Amino acid sequence: MKLIIINGPNLNLLGKRETDIYGALSFEAFYEQLNARYPEVELSYFQSNIEGELIDKIQEVGFSYDGIILNAAAYTHTSVGIGDAVKAVETPVIEVHISNTFAREEFRHQSYVSAGARGVILGFGLQSYELALQSFLKP
Ligand code: DQA
Repeated sequence: MKLIIINGPNLNLLGKRETDIYGALSFEAFYEQLNARYPEVELSYFQSNIEGELIDKIQEVGFSYDGIILNAAAYTHTSVGIGDAVKAVETPVIEVHISNTFAREEFRHQSYVSAGARGVILGFGLQSYELALQSFLKP
């Protein structure tokens, strides 16, 4: 089972950024825990603050991996290009968010990713990523 987590802008600052919303754990520390918990999964991780790099990565893995766990962060709400990339690839995409975007500002209620995603998991903190991973293990 080959899965990738793709994180969008500012998620490299997890653990430091708005910790009341996103928590105090860095993504690197969480990613280590996840790898330890699911040794049977060939997991990789990519983060970029650049929209085109996220699209390039979705295209690169999107015809060979078993699943993409995508938190496009702020680009979720603005990027037609990322939404189109999700629709263009064969690999199923699970959209995740750490926070419950529907309980926040109205501009966060819109997602260009959801229409092309297999499913959406949000509001469970970093556990959102783990729930997405588990969904690939139990289809
Ligand atoms: C986020 C929610 C987005 O609205 C925000 O721009 C982020 C993180 C989340 O995981 O809760 O950067 O995707």
